[in-house]
Amino acid sequence: ADNTMMDLKAIAAAVNPDRLAHDLATLAKFGGRSDGGVARLALDDNDTRARRWLVEQASFLGAKASVDAIGNVFLDVPGRQPSLAPVVTGSHLDSQPAGGKYDGALGVLAGLEALRALKQAGFTPRRPLSLVSWTNEEGARFSPGTSGSAVFCGVRSLEDTRQLTDSDDISLGSALDVCLAELDGAGVPRRPLATPMHAFIELHIEQGPILERDQVPVGVVEGIQGVSWFEVTVTGSANHAGTTPRALRRDAFEGACALATALREAACDSEDRVRFTIGKFVVSPGSVNTIPDHVTFSIDVRHPDAATLKALEATFTQLAQQRWADCQATLTPLAHVEPVDFPNSLTRLLDDTAHTLEITTTRLVSGAFHDAIHLAKHCPTAMLFVPCRHGLSHHPDEHITLSDAVAGTQLLAASLANLTR
Ligand code: GLV
Ligand code: MN
Ligand code: MN
Ligand code: MN
Repeated sequence: ADNTMMDLKAIAAAVNPDRLAHDLATLAKFGGRSDGGVARLALDDNDTRARRWLVEQASFLGAKASVDAIGNVFLDVPGRQPSLAPVVTGSHLDSQPAGGKYDGALGVLAGLEALRALKQAGFTPRRPLSLVSWTNEEGARFSPGTSGSAVFCGVRSLEDTRQLTDSDDISLGSALDVCLAELDGAGVPRRPLATPMHAFIELHIEQGPILERDQVPVGVVEGIQGVSWFEVTVTGSANHAGTTPRALRRDAFEGACALATALREAACDSEDRVRFTIGKFVVSPGSVNTIPDHVTFSIDVRHPDAATLKALEATFTQLAQQRWADCQATLTPLAHVEPVDFPNSLTRLLDDTAHTLEITTTRLVSGAFHDAIHLAKHCPTAMLFVPCRHGLSHHPDEHITLSDAVAGTQLLAASLANLTR
């Protein structure tokens, strides 16, 4: 089909708001929480049921479902030239333990609706089109996250990733095998990792306050800031809380607090560009009248500039080498992902397509990481953001408006059409 301005508008018009809303409600039931949120942890029963539901959507599209060795699920729509690399869209179906209905899910369902709209508008793509759902983006159950995209893109090994364990000591590999066996049973064939892609576009909720503040329905994302995760262990010695005088104490909590404060101070910049979070802090043995001998805490640090992020990591390493309240600390790197800039050619194509559809957009940089951070190393990649209420996410109250979701899906569908021309 010829790709005139008229075609793009017809494609946008074929995006069906009711169908998208219905899918969002359906998916939210897999792991739905009584407070309205979603708990669909990577590779748990709900995540597996969600994958099976996604696979069932293939027939309507005339698409072929398949799954790779790390559990990424693909729906492939054939193109007129089947040997060409596909244009791919998608996101993730796993959620935080107290997550919302839209983080990840919106990108998968908007992709699904975009492919349906293209089909309904009578658009026959030159290149194949694919929808993907990446495994364990969140890293909430198995840390670090973005497992599916990292393994697909060759950034991390399948073997190491399979060995990640959750808090019950279940390995990602064993949970994955249960999920894969279900999909095998449903007749879903395997596909290889690292298959070539012409482009990847991920739609996601913004998870920040900018689009809502500026009343813009869709953001065109220019890149993603870099991120590093660490685990810090502070070791003191346990003893009786009531009898041990200060001079004889090696209180791991005291040491951890002092180190945590020093780390936080090192991460303070006058421009407020560093993002520093200690989100986990575990005191052991965890008894009211025992001086703790171990504290383990997490560090999540982010910056858009690669050199600044490296310098922060070096400072953290130095601080951890000092003694804090006479305790010893070790700092273990868990993940380091460099910031990425999406290619201008692709962000410009998104802007131009939005212009054709008369959808207002603005440019922004992603503070959250996404699977797109790894895909950017694999093929030309970009993202679209849809506003979320009060910038809230990783929370059961996560909320979007249907009209923004539809605008994002329309822009996604038309951009996929432009890319498969
Ligand atoms: C992903 O959810 C992130 O932490 O940015
Ligand atoms: Mn997400
Ligand atoms: Mn998330
Ligand atoms: Mn995320």
